[in-house]
Amino acid sequence: MLDKFNQLIEKAKSFKVSSSDDLENFRLTFLVKKGLLNKLIQEFKTLSNDQKKELGKILNITKQTVEEIYNINSKKITSNHNYSRLNNNLPGYYIESGSRHIISSVVDEMTVIFERLGFSVSIGPEIEDDWHNFSALNFPKNHPARDMQDTFFVDQEIALRTHTSSVQVRLMESGKLPIRSIMPGRVYRNEAISSRSNCFFHQVEGLYIDKGVSFLDLKQTLYNFVKEFFGPNTKVRFRASYFPFTEPSAEMDIFLGIETASDYKLTKGTGWLEILGCGMVDPNVLENCNIDKSYSGFAFGLGVDRIAMLKYGVKDLRTFFNNDKRFLTQFDSL
Ligand code: PHE
Repeated sequence: MLDKFNQLIEKAKSFKVSSSDDLENFRLTFLVKKGLLNKLIQEFKTLSNDQKKELGKILNITKQTVEEIYNINSKKITSNHNYSRLNNNLPGYYIESGSRHIISSVVDEMTVIFERLGFSVSIGPEIEDDWHNFSALNFPKNHPARDMQDTFFVDQEIALRTHTSSVQVRLMESGKLPIRSIMPGRVYRNEAISSRSNCFFHQVEGLYIDKGVSFLDLKQTLYNFVKEFFGPNTKVRFRASYFPFTEPSAEMDIFLGIETASDYKLTKGTGWLEILGCGMVDPNVLENCNIDKSYSGFAFGLGVDRIAMLKYGVKDLRTFFNNDKRFLTQFDSL
């Protein structure tokens, strides 16, 4: 019986298959109900139980091997087949090249401006612990200031970061001074989604810590940014504001005017649009990060999506992220 198995394999191996007709012949010879393989299986069935036990495995291997030989032959034939149909004169497929997303391009554009002012780039995790996102930044537990940012919690201690200020803390904790860095990244807030707000968006945060840094340096840095990014005649104003981690705090608006209906809507009829929050780093934050009292610093946080909307006249924030290529390819050349 063992010999018969071997003979069958040998026969299958030496069966010449060089066309699809041969392949069909192979199938008819070995694999159909009346084929050689099945004949052998019928013969196997007549064996005693002991012999079946002994030879069962080998029968299976034989069956798999013959089927495998068929598959290999079949692949060979179909690839030959394609080859014979190859036509070098047909035009190739058009492969579209990818491009940077408009939000990434805007972040790049901002980065270049700040790099010229001596800022480096740092990044941090999007899933943060309570300390880096809140406590170290002077948001005490149960303090109402935590309500300023509707948070997606993972558990009591872990959340999706609500701002890139968490990266400030990581930088300061690293103990390497002075610091002059920007921190671009995605942030998450549990907000109702509309044309003006989304449950995630992007920020570029900046932090400058050194001896003798003043509010004047902050203003000058931001003026410089705005003039480079929006053009030399852009009008800006600072408004006093509140953030737990800066003191004093301010927000900066740029002037759009109210000549068009969309400017009117975007600026709520005032002509001014808020683009960033900023301030001098609160001494409590410096202390939380073990920074010597002889140092001072400023921080600011720019909203990238809003600035991109403004710069490119995009009316609905959601269009940045619903992946409609017709929208995204408009910005390919950026
Ligand atoms: N983290 C603040 C926000 O997300 C922005 C900010 C950054 C304000 C740095 C002051 C200083 O609203």
